[in-house]
Amino acid sequence: MEKTIIAGTGRYVPPRAVTNQDLEQWMDTSDEWIRQRSGIEKRHWVPEEGGVGSSDLGFEAARIALDRAGWEPQDIELIIFATLSPDIYFPGSGCLLQHKLGLNTTPALDIRQQCSGFVYGMSIADAYIRAGVYQRILFVGAEVHSTGLDISTRGRDVAVLFGDGAGAVCLEGIETDAPIGFLATTLHAQGELAESLMLELPSHRLRPSLTEEMLKSGRHYPTMDGRAVFKNAVRRLPEVAKETLAKAQMDTEDIDLFIPHQANMRINQGFQKAMQLPASKVFHNIQHYGNTTAASIPMAFDEAIEANIIGAGNAVMFLGLGSGLTWGATIYRFPD
Ligand code: UT7
Repeated sequence: MEKTIIAGTGRYVPPRAVTNQDLEQWMDTSDEWIRQRSGIEKRHWVPEEGGVGSSDLGFEAARIALDRAGWEPQDIELIIFATLSPDIYFPGSGCLLQHKLGLNTTPALDIRQQCSGFVYGMSIADAYIRAGVYQRILFVGAEVHSTGLDISTRGRDVAVLFGDGAGAVCLEGIETDAPIGFLATTLHAQGELAESLMLELPSHRLRPSLTEEMLKSGRHYPTMDGRAVFKNAVRRLPEVAKETLAKAQMDTEDIDLFIPHQANMRINQGFQKAMQLPASKVFHNIQHYGNTTAASIPMAFDEAIEANIIGAGNAVMFLGLGSGLTWGATIYRFPD
């Protein structure tokens, strides 16, 4: 039977580290507020002058993942690029990355599931591979949030949370009957709650889609009803984890590590409590990177592999919730 295995992972953040203390210079906030509410200590942002896009960060992460998989760019049969902060409005960053990788006509698919981009992306890659359509797929989740944030007191509820970064994974089909690869996946969305976390402008339902007036009002910056999203996350993440475990006929003890999206350490600690897990089974790295949306799970995955927390034979659950709302979970077992 055709199964999907992850042949290599990589991550990249731009070198400029921005601490909570740095943010205090630009807005009315404090290191204490940010740490207590979210667990974040610093994040990485692209150079202030700009010029670096999601496809650039994605390229760096992809190079590492390709190297670890032992692939050349020419081995890639499909690129899946997850981002809410594309280099340009269209075409998607997947096309730009394809060109940067020196590829000619390799297909590139952009997906827009925000913080659930990794989980949705894995389900797409796995379905293509198991259906025999493609054998080698590169997934990249990458975000440049910093250039699109309101870095002032007006935007502080959102601006302090987000970081730039990229994570990449190489997915490969293998023929085996062993219980490895993606064992179960659950995806959900609830458009009713779209406005609880959104970037409204430019909007093609308006004519013109962007005006001076709109820019002044700040509607081209992301807005979030933090409490509503928080409440949904602490409810939906345990729910979708249990749904996915049941599909795979597994228990929490069968999972070696839970890698949740890194939106808020308190959300993930709430998840840990609700699932009655030991703290060591839930991975956190939000302290160093903030919320990197589509990049957060693949970056955390890469870091957990590098730190030897997970590897051969282990089972991992990836899960996340974010704008859409979208949420989901997937269980992956490494080959022995
Ligand atoms: O990845 C996508 C999914 N996103 C999430 O999962 C995020 C979910 N939400 C959260 O993580 C939390 O709701 C936040 C971290 C965003 C906020 O934490 P909170 O405990 O819900 O705080 P709050 O929004 O209720 O704000 C509390 C107070 C407010 O002041 P008042 O009204 O109590 O006087 C805010 O104005 O904190 C104020 N505040 C800040 N103060 C200092 C908001 N932002 C800041 C700030 N610095 N950056």
